Amino acid sequence: NTDKLCCYYFFQSNKTLGEFIIENQNAFQYSSGELSRIINSIRLAAKVVSYKVNKAGLVDIVGAAGERNIQGEDQQKLDVYANNIFIQTLINREIVCGIASEENDDFITVEGSDSSHNNKYVVLMDPLDGSSNIDVNVSVGTIFSVYRRITPIGTPVTLEDFLQPGINQVAAGYVIYGTSTMLVYTTGHGVNGFTLNPAIGTFYLSHPNMQFSEDGNIYSINEGNYVHFPQGVKDYIKYCQLEEGDRPYTSRYIGSLVSDIHRNMIKGGIYIYPTSSKAPKGKLRLLYECNPMSFIVEQAGGKASDGFNRIMELQPTELHERVPFFCGSMNMVKKRFVYNIIYIAGCKT
Ligand code: AHG
Ligand code: MN
Ligand code: MN
Repeated sequence: NTDKLCCYYFFQSNKTLGEFIIENQNAFQYSSGELSRIINSIRLAAKVVSYKVNKAGLVDIVGAAGERNIQGEDQQKLDVYANNIFIQTLINREIVCGIASEENDDFITVEGSDSSHNNKYVVLMDPLDGSSNIDVNVSVGTIFSVYRRITPIGTPVTLEDFLQPGINQVAAGYVIYGTSTMLVYTTGHGVNGFTLNPAIGTFYLSHPNMQFSEDGNIYSINEGNYVHFPQGVKDYIKYCQLEEGDRPYTSRYIGSLVSDIHRNMIKGGIYIYPTSSKAPKGKLRLLYECNPMSFIVEQAGGKASDGFNRIMELQPTELHERVPFFCGSMNMVKKRFVYNIIYIAGCKT
C-alpha cells in the first residue's frame, strides 16, 4: 500500500545526519573532525531534550524553576534541564574549549582530562528558546553557534573568544521540538534540515538545501506591543495590512523565535522584533539568537538586519547584549521606501 511504499522510499532515499556529517567532513581535505564531533554532540543532546519535551505533562518538567537568569527572566524547569544537557554533553566529550549560554551569567571554560584547552572551538547557545510555550504544548527550540577561538590554543578561553561578530561563525543551527523534532544547520554551505524518527532515534535528511523565497506573505511580530513601536515599524505593519497587490499579508506569531523563523523559511515571510519604548534595545540576544539565526537565514538566501546594519557584522560588546531584529525573505526585509520604513532597511543607501 501507499503508506508502506512512502516509508520504503523514505528510508531508501534519505541520508541520516550521521552519514551527512561524515560526507561533509571528508569534503574538507584538512578537516580535523572537531567540528563534526561538535555537531554530533549537539545531535545527541537534542535527542535527549526532545525525549524530555515530549514527556512534558507526564513528568515534573513544566513550570518555573524558581530562579532568574542574568537577564532577570524567570527560568523554567526545561530551560535549566536543556541547559545542563547541552553543556554536559559538550563537556563530557571534551571537544570545545568554552561554552556561553543564555542561561549562564558568565562563559564556561572547559578544562578536560587531556587538556581540552587544546580544542579550538567555542559554542554559544540558547538552550531552550520560547520558554513561555513549554507549559501550553507549543513548539520550542534550541539555537547554537560555533566559532573558532581567537586566543591561542592551549590557554584558557577569554571573553574575547565569545565576543566575535557573526560573520566569524563556522557553524550555526537550531533544533525545533515541534510536531516532529528537526535539526537544521549550516556550516556556510547552504542549510539542511533533518527530521528525527523517534522510534529509532535517528535524524534523516528531510529538507535538503532549504531556501527562503525572495518574497513572502507572512509577517511575524508581537502586535501587542504596537503602541510602543517606532513609527517606521508601525507604518510597515500598516503596509502589510493594506489591500493592494499581493497584500494584505497574513500575520503569524508563535512567540518562539525558532518556530517563527522556521515557518517563514518554509513559507516565505518576515520576522520582526524591533526596539520599543518598553525594550529600547529590543529583546532578542545578539550572540545566542540573532547571529546564529542570521547565519542560517543568509545561507538560505534571506536577509537579517538590526534596522540599519547587517546583524552578522555587528561587533558584540557584552555576552548578553540585545539587538532589534528584522529577518526573512530578501525583498520583504529590503522593502523600505514605502511608508518611510527606514527601520526595515538593513542597509544605509
Ligand atoms: P527565550 O525563551 O529563549 O527567552 O526566548 C524568547 C524570545 C523568542 O523566542 C520569542 O520570539 C520572543 O522572545 C517572544 O517575545 P514576546 O513574548 O515579547 O513576543
Ligand atoms: Mn530565545
Ligand atoms: Mn532561552
